[in-house]
Formats: sequence, structure tokens, C-alpha cells
Amino acid sequence: MANPLALKFCGLDFASPIVLLSGCVGFGEEYTRIEGFSNRDAGAVVLKGTTLAPRLGNPPHRVFETPAGMLNAIGLQNPGADHVVQKILPRLDFNETRFIANVSGSTIEEYAEVTRRFDTSPIDAIEINISCPNVKEGGVAFGNYPEMSARVVEACRKLTKKPLITKLSPNQTDIKENARRCIEAGSDALAVINTIMGMAIDVKTRRPVIGNVQGGLSGPAIKPVALLKVHQVYEVAGPLDVPIIGQGGITNATDALEFIIAGATAVGVGTALFYDPMICKKINAGITEYLQAHQMQSVTQLIGSLRTGKEIQDCAVSG
Ligand SMILES: Cc1cc2nc3c(=O)[nH]c(=O)nc-3n(C[C@H](O)[C@H](O)[C@H](O)COP(=O)(O)O)c2cc1C
Repeated sequence: MANPLALKFCGLDFASPIVLLSGCVGFGEEYTRIEGFSNRDAGAVVLKGTTLAPRLGNPPHRVFETPAGMLNAIGLQNPGADHVVQKILPRLDFNETRFIANVSGSTIEEYAEVTRRFDTSPIDAIEINISCPNVKEGGVAFGNYPEMSARVVEACRKLTKKPLITKLSPNQTDIKENARRCIEAGSDALAVINTIMGMAIDVKTRRPVIGNVQGGLSGPAIKPVALLKVHQVYEVAGPLDVPIIGQGGITNATDALEFIIAGATAVGVGTALFYDPMICKKINAGITEYLQAHQMQSVTQLIGSLRTGKEIQDCAVSG
């Protein structure tokens, strides 16, 4: 029997709609050391954000637990593009899943150069992180302005034919306009959303808890925001057949189903892995069960199947 969770994403075969998110699974190997964990349970794994030169990241504290979520300001710690391409990619088993690079930079030229390094590598796709809130230069400066976002995408597009996914920021006024500009500039897919900016204060010392003062909020606390952003971006991306990786606070199959119904083709899981590394198996099982209960052969039947006012009225009329 055909796998009901299998789907095509930008021409790539995904065995499950689940994508393990950047920054939450190292460079694709970390979790494979945990007994019972397998990258095969995910349709794809996104590697940690990579810049041209190695980066040490931000001073501590870098993570802090908050109600129903966490703040992080890692600051894109990574060993640099050449190390990732030459030393890390050869160790990955590309039979297990699809691997996606996550590209960051302080200038448009840096984004382009890192993209070029991955273009000549075996990586399956490239995600452009124009929405990192945790670095002083670049990151969010590109992601919060549609014109700047489009220029980054355009520059990367010129250098690769691999699928390009642009990761959008929730910290902006008009995410739909940004999505539209990124698609026009050549993005094949969109990742919605990155973390939401936040902060925490230690009242004893009256200092910010996070070394970087501010951090990115992730986990269940951001789910309703993320869901709305996916719904909004789908209005632009859906008619153009541009797939979305919906993400932000997904911790179970119901969360994943909500994102798919809102318009996501694939669903990202990040923070939830920190407290339940086996979560992919549970989400896959839960989605499969839902499909069986609703006599559906494929998870793709659910994408963007949200019943808005009109459909609900039709439904009421038809019984
Ligand atoms: C510790 C940590 C590190 C992250 N690093 C990156 C990164 O390097 N690049 C990136 O695009 N997103 C990064 N993210 C954002 C996640 O990929 C994801 O978009 C976000 O956490 C929302 O999903 P979640 O609520 O399931 O974690 C990071 C998130 C966390 C928690």
C-alpha cells in the first residue's frame, strides 16, 4: 500500500510531511545518537544556519525557558560553509532523508557565496534564513523589508538551480507582501515562520537574562501566531503552487494537521524535539490515523483544505 504520508516538495520525495528544523538538530547527526531516533521518520532535515566564515555565536545565556516556549539567541554558531560542505555533508546518509542547508549572511554577497558553496555539494535544497533575530548584522534586517528580502533571494537564485526555500520573519508588518516579492525573485518554497522576538529580565539583578538582550521565542507559545501567518502566506503562495513549510510550536499530530489544513505542504518540528526526541514517530502515527478515520489516501488531500465561511455555508446547505 502506498505511504499516505509521502509527498513531493519542490520535486523532492519526502517520506513524511515532517521537517526537522534548523538549529534544533545540529548538522543532521546529533539526534541519530539517541536510541530509537531515526532521520527516516522525517521527510527532510534542515541543517544549522551556516555562514561563510566560522562563527562562535553570542555570549551566554543563549537559551531560557519561558511559559510554553523558549527564548534563544545562539547567534548562528557554526563552523563555516567550507567545513560543512567538506567535512559534514560526506558523513550524512542521503538515503535516510532529504537534507536542506540553511544559509545566513551579513551581506547579500555573503548569502550568495554560501549558496554557491552548497550548490556544488550533494545537498538536496537550500533554505535562505533572512529572518534570524539573533545576529546584529544581516538576518532580520533583510527579512523585515520585502525589497531587501527579494534582493537576497534574487542573488541566491542566480547561483543555484537547487530548490530554494525562503524562511520568512514574523517580525514584520506585511508577511504576504514579503512572500509575494520572494516568490517573484525566484523562491521555490517558503518556510513560515522563524522565531518571534522577545526578552526576559532577571529581577534580582535587573539584567536581561539573555546575553544578547533579546532572543527568538519558539515553542507552543507562538503556535497561534504561526498558524495565522501560514494562512496569510498561503493566500499568496497557494494559487502559484509554491509550497510552504509551516512551523512554530508544533508538538503533536493535531498541531501538524492544523498547519496542513491552513496551507502548509510540510510541517516543521523544532523546540518540541528538545523534550521529546521521539516526537516524529508520534506525529506520523497521529496523521496516519486521522487520514484513515477520514477515508483519505494521502496527506496531500488536506493541504489548504480550511473551510472558510463560504465552504461552511455550502456544507450547511448540503446537509
Ligand atoms: C535553539 C534554536 C536555534 C535555531 N537556529 C536557527 C538557525 O540557525 N536558522 C534558522 O533559520 N532558524 C533557527 N531556529 C528557528 C527554528 O528553525 C524554527 O523556525 C523556530 O524555532 C520555530 O519552530 P519551533 O517552535 O517548532 O521550534 C532556531 C530555533 C531554536 C530554538
